[in-house]
Amino acid sequence: MRPALVFSQCFLCLLVGICVPCIVGSLPHALPWHVSCPSRCVCQIKPWFSPDSVYHEAPTVDCNNLLLTKLPLPVPTNTHTLRLQSNLLSELNTAVLHGLPNLTDLDLSQNRFSLVRTITQSSSLPTLLSLHLEENHLSRLPEASFSSLPNLQELFLNHNNLYSIAPGAFTGLDSLLRLHINNNRITTVDPRWFRALPRLEVLMLGGNPVEALPEQGFLTLKSLRSLVLGGMGLRRLAEKALEGLESLESLSFYDNLLTKVPTQALRRVPGLKFLDLNKNRIKLIDTGDFRDMIQLKELGLNNMEELVSIERAAMDNLPELTKLEITNNPRLSYIHPRAFLQLSRLESLMLNSNSLVALHQHIILSLPSLQEVSLHSNPLRCDCLFRWAAKGFSHPHTDDAPATLCAEPQELRARRVKEVSSREMSASCLPMIPNSSLPSYIGVRGGGKLALHCRALADPQPKLYWVTPSGLRLGPTSASSQAWNDTPCKLSKHYRLLPEGTLEMSKVTPSEAGLYTCIAENALGADTRSVTVGVHGSDRKRKKGVAGTMKRDPLFKTDARLEVREVGQHYVILSWQNSRNLPSTRLSWQAIYSNAHTPTYTTRILAGTQSFNLTHLQAETFYRVCLHLRVNEGNKHASLRSRESRKTECVSFRTKEVPQSQPSLQLSPELISTAHLDFVFIHTKHSTLSSIRQHNTLYTYNDLYVYHT
Ligand SMILES: *[C@@H]1O[C@H](CO)[C@@H](O)[C@H](O)[C@H]1NC(C)=O
Ligand SMILES: *[C@@H]1O[C@H](CO)[C@@H](O)[C@H](O)[C@H]1NC(C)=O
Ligand SMILES: *[C@@H]1O[C@H](CO)[C@@H](O)[C@H](O)[C@H]1NC(C)=O
Repeated sequence: MRPALVFSQCFLCLLVGICVPCIVGSLPHALPWHVSCPSRCVCQIKPWFSPDSVYHEAPTVDCNNLLLTKLPLPVPTNTHTLRLQSNLLSELNTAVLHGLPNLTDLDLSQNRFSLVRTITQSSSLPTLLSLHLEENHLSRLPEASFSSLPNLQELFLNHNNLYSIAPGAFTGLDSLLRLHINNNRITTVDPRWFRALPRLEVLMLGGNPVEALPEQGFLTLKSLRSLVLGGMGLRRLAEKALEGLESLESLSFYDNLLTKVPTQALRRVPGLKFLDLNKNRIKLIDTGDFRDMIQLKELGLNNMEELVSIERAAMDNLPELTKLEITNNPRLSYIHPRAFLQLSRLESLMLNSNSLVALHQHIILSLPSLQEVSLHSNPLRCDCLFRWAAKGFSHPHTDDAPATLCAEPQELRARRVKEVSSREMSASCLPMIPNSSLPSYIGVRGGGKLALHCRALADPQPKLYWVTPSGLRLGPTSASSQAWNDTPCKLSKHYRLLPEGTLEMSKVTPSEAGLYTCIAENALGADTRSVTVGVHGSDRKRKKGVAGTMKRDPLFKTDARLEVREVGQHYVILSWQNSRNLPSTRLSWQAIYSNAHTPTYTTRILAGTQSFNLTHLQAETFYRVCLHLRVNEGNKHASLRSRESRKTECVSFRTKEVPQSQPSLQLSPELISTAHLDFVFIHTKHSTLSSIRQHNTLYTYNDLYVYHT
């Protein structure tokens, strides 16, 4: 925990421009100081910066790491900085301190102090500006603990055992600029603490087990510029939690349990410039989450295990935003093409080390000031969606990092994106639903809520729909050319479909358990991904989705009944009933001649489909078509893949005759032989097809999904 927080502090200090230690390296070294120095200590004139960053040459006595149990003597009278770090001190002869009229900085960190009074009970030390008490054994701060230090500007109390702080503990610290009480055992934040600190600029509160901040807890901190609330276990933020922080520029929520961006609370700090939400449990960056934060310059959304998607208009009208970091989110596979709106100053977009398959060109085009994009260490799909990054396009902002490699398609795998020419990338592409957005199994408690997130990128833009375990199809009809409707639609009392492809269920009951399939489809084809939802009853008996459901209700009492609806010269329309979601339904067909052996073709039927127009048939020919129902092979309940778990329904028919009165209607060669057509097609698109198979995707030609078996 500690190194992470140290890093975070340094990061924030750099942002606010008040991080003194970071720049010490380039300054003059220590000078000799000829004085009678306590034994084993080192006395030198050293560079020193006041809390408001003014440089001093400070007479410094350095007695660090000496196993001291007492103050070493004599301390030179003009000592400015006294360092006693890493000793065994539990009390201090304060009379000695009063003999040091210029004592400004006292470092007692990493000792054994358990009572703050042993240091501060004496009469006033008006010169002291900085007191280090971190890593001691302090557990309580009584009223007016520091009233003898009226000019103190910096107080370090981090990494103690503080759990009790009196409401007026800081009374008298009128000049305090920085307070570090991070990494203690504080469980609640008392607004009264801060009343005594009108000038406070930096407050480090992180690393305390505070689950909720009070409303208006920081109301009196009108001068606060930087607030660090990292590592606290915060689950949500009250709407008024940050009210009154008029001067706040930098805010960190690093490593908390937030599941949503605290948009309402953030609206109360309009001056915010730097925001760190790294390492939270946020699943979606939703529409409007970051809207109209007109001062925001840098935003960090890194290291989020659960983040799957950045939605449309997630960042909207952030006119000062120059740097956006969304990295190391192992499940982040989707950024909406219009996720970023009105970010006119964004220069640096860091998106490395996610699960992104592509970045839509629209994103790049919508960012007029973009200078740098980092996309390395993503499973990038080097096809149509990513053509803007290819060699031929030489976009000024492409990512040069050597690790920016293609993961797909197979023949471009491990090539550097920059070295692939745009000619090698196809101009349009199939939908692909990244597997990181949907796990294969999700359990939910009965009566609970569940959201299944399905996203897909493709060109042309795909339509998405869902099929429920009972075979109900939710979403736009395939006839509709409209993309996903923008308003959420309520489909039944249980299901709600959100614009980008999320299926929400509320008050889940065991009857909703089972296999849910998301289908993303465009003119080129479709991709599907299924998730088994298990509903755990309040009796704690686990019902394991499909497996459980099917044991109770045998699958193949399902009446599939394949029927021929309409026969043409070159097509047949088939339909069937299916009261269950079986994503591995297949259709196979074969021309039947008495004298010839003909190949069998198969196509997978997308979940939720109950009719099919089988085209490119030959006229005046007998065909036999079979519908094969089977439990999804990808399902982990593999034991169910026994013989009983298959069912086949077949029908035969003859295609119509070609009317002789129309000799001009000559069949083009492609239509005469399905086999020939398929061969050409599969051959020329071989590469695409191979990569697609892996993803369980179908390729389609016209309206026929075909692959050769
Ligand atoms: C304290 O500092 C001031 C200003 O630097 C200096 O003039 C004075 O001599 C110092 N006092 C002692 C006791 O060294
Ligand atoms: C997702 O796909 C990648 C590559 O195709 C594979 O390595 C990974 O194991 C898959 N993850 C899951 C959860 O299926
Ligand atoms: C089926 O496909 C054929 C050939 O493409 C077409 O002429 C016919 O109109 C289609 N029928 C339906 C109902 O879509």
